[in-house]
Parts: sequence; structure tokens; C-alpha cells
Amino acid sequence: MKKILVTGGCGYIGSHTIVDLIENGFDVVSVDNNTRSNPRILEGVEKITGKKVKNYKVDLCNFDDTFAIFQENPDIAGIVHFAAYKAVGESVELPLMYFENNLMSLINLLKCVQEFSIKYFVFSSSCTVYGNPDEIPVTELTPPKAAESPYGYTKQMGEQIINEFSKAADVRCLLLRYFNPVGAHPTALIGELPIGRPANLVPAITQTAIGKLPQMIVHGNDYPTRDGSCIRDYIHVCDIAHAHTLGLSFLLNGKATKKCEVFNLGTGNGVTVLEAIGAFEKVSGLKLNYTIGPRRPGDVIAIYANNDLVKKQLGWIPQYSLDDMMSTAWKWEQKLKVDERFYNGKFSELN
Ligand code: WQD
Repeated sequence: MKKILVTGGCGYIGSHTIVDLIENGFDVVSVDNNTRSNPRILEGVEKITGKKVKNYKVDLCNFDDTFAIFQENPDIAGIVHFAAYKAVGESVELPLMYFENNLMSLINLLKCVQEFSIKYFVFSSSCTVYGNPDEIPVTELTPPKAAESPYGYTKQMGEQIINEFSKAADVRCLLLRYFNPVGAHPTALIGELPIGRPANLVPAITQTAIGKLPQMIVHGNDYPTRDGSCIRDYIHVCDIAHAHTLGLSFLLNGKATKKCEVFNLGTGNGVTVLEAIGAFEKVSGLKLNYTIGPRRPGDVIAIYANNDLVKKQLGWIPQYSLDDMMSTAWKWEQKLKVDERFYNGKFSELN
């Protein structure tokens, strides 16, 4: 059973990926300093998989502490690296914190890849590397444009660092560019735990519907799109998770032809903000309390994926529909209200 180190394993995509890896025969250890995640999410992972996952509460910016994890786990066969700060707005206010945290942690990990001869490395990248694309859908060959935020630059720079490292080291890497991960595991035992007021659309919808937020604001309906609101490629977090399992198998089975492969992880369908709200209202039977507000600075007008390459190379086919995304997100929001592990999602009471 191959052991995989998942960084950010207590996070939203990390925890869902751990479930999928275990269900597909991998052994997993997590490293997560829990500054932006809650370790009790792993109790949900255990309930789903029957496996207790060890988490090293370590800051990957501390090289010695990171090194010690690999000394203690000499059988790590591969790494899936999620751990990073990801709030676009915060990154604009605190760019140095983002560059230091997201890049120092990556470099420390890659030093350990070299030191311990780890052969496979999967990186959590983002469609944000495309900026505001001139043409959509975007393919992996669509040239990256200026990022919209320091967060976006850390993803672009992270990809470049890994690409150059892969040329010099005996390692095979995958850069997985997520579009908009949404939804929750169908059991509602794990899901997204936004800290404070959610910036992302789907948690803003579900928190408004459950009464945590008084009203949701649609950031602009005067864009040049079919209904005036922005277009995104929403993709279920379980589909994203499974792509990591397929990606690791692709690497472990020697299927990679390049030292560093890039794949878009999106459904290939563009959905507007108002259409997403409509889908939520349909599956929940609720009328969402929202108002149209001004455009949000930095928002991309429209982006969605051409996912032909990942379908061909990994055999990955997204399974969850937009309705599934909304229904699982809503089920999770309702569960959160009564789940003693995550009192209101305010970590201060629990950490
Ligand atoms: C989607 C659309 C908003 C909230 C960002 C990062 C990306 C990834 C996902 C980390 C936009 C609109 C939102 C609200 C709204 N982050 N919206 N009202 O901006 O596409 O992507 O988050 O991995 O890297 O760039 O996602 O969910 O914030 O916004 O109208 O209350 O929903 O304006 O058009 P985004 P989002």
C-alpha cells in the first residue's frame, strides 16, 4: 500500500482527497498546521473510510520540522501539496505573508523531495493562473496572463518553481489547475469550513439560506454575459479529489511522458452566478435573499475549462452535476448547524 503525504490534509480539498485516496487503496498521512483548518475534520474522514489519519501539526515554513516528518516516514511514495493561504482579497492586503507562506512551504517540501528521493509530486494549482483569458474555454496551452492577485502570483510562481525543479531532479510532477471547487462529500461528514464571512459564492449562498448571513450580494450583473453576471466552471470537490487519485496512479504507473504535466480540472461548463443561485433555489426549494451590488474588483468576467487533456490522459470524467454541487453544499451547511465539532465554524472555540 503506497503511502502518500497530503499537505493541508485538514482543509477542504485536502480532506476530500484523503477520503478518495484511502478508498482507492492508498495509505495517507497529513501535515497541516491548522491555522486555517480544523483537525476535527479528520474525524469525518475516519467515519467515512474507517481509517484514522495521522496529522502532523507542523508549519511547512519550518524546514527542520518538515524534514523530521520525512525522517519519521521513510516510506512516503508521493506528495499531494494543498497547504497554502488562498484568500484572494487578503493576499492583496498582505502580499508578503502570501509570498512567504505559499512559496517557502513549497520550497521546503521540494528540498525534502530531493533529500528523500520522493519520485511523485502533485501540486494544487488554480485556474487563477490564466487571469482574464482572451479566449474561453481555456486549455492547458492558454498562455497565463498577469495574475489578479498576489495569491494568483503564488500559484503561477509555484508552477514555475516546480517545473524548473522537475527538470533538475529525479521526480515527476503534476500541476492540477482547479476551476471552482464547490459542494461537499455526500455524507455531509466533511465539507468546506470558511473562516469568517465567506468570499466564495457557494458558501455565501448556503450561509445566507441558513441565516448566518442576512443577505447575499451578487457582485455585478452588467457584465457582457448571457445574464450579466460572471461565468465560472464550478466543479464538485469530490470530482477534484478523485482527479488526484487518478493523477497519482498515472505517475506511479509510469504513464507520464513529461517531467511536469499540467491538467485543467473543470467540467467544461460555464455557469453564471445567477444560474448557480437558480440551481440552489431549485434543489433547496428556498428563495434566496440576494441583491445586485457593484462589480468586485479583480473578478474575471468569464472562464471555464477545456478538459479534453485530463479526460484523455487520466480518464477523469466529472460525476457530479450543478444540482449535486448545490444539494451537497446545502446538506453540509445544515449539518454544520448541529455538528458539535465545528461550532458555527468559528475555530477559536475549538482550536
Ligand atoms: C465566483 C463568482 C463572484 C461571492 C476564487 C479564486 C480561486 C479559488 C476560488 C482558491 C464571482 C461571485 C461570489 C458572493 C458573488 N480560490 N460572487 N457574491 O473569484 O472565481 O475564484 O475562489 O483556490 O483561485 O480566484 O470564486 O466563489 O469568490 O466567485 O456574486 O458573495 O461569484 O463575483 O463572479 P472566484 P468566488
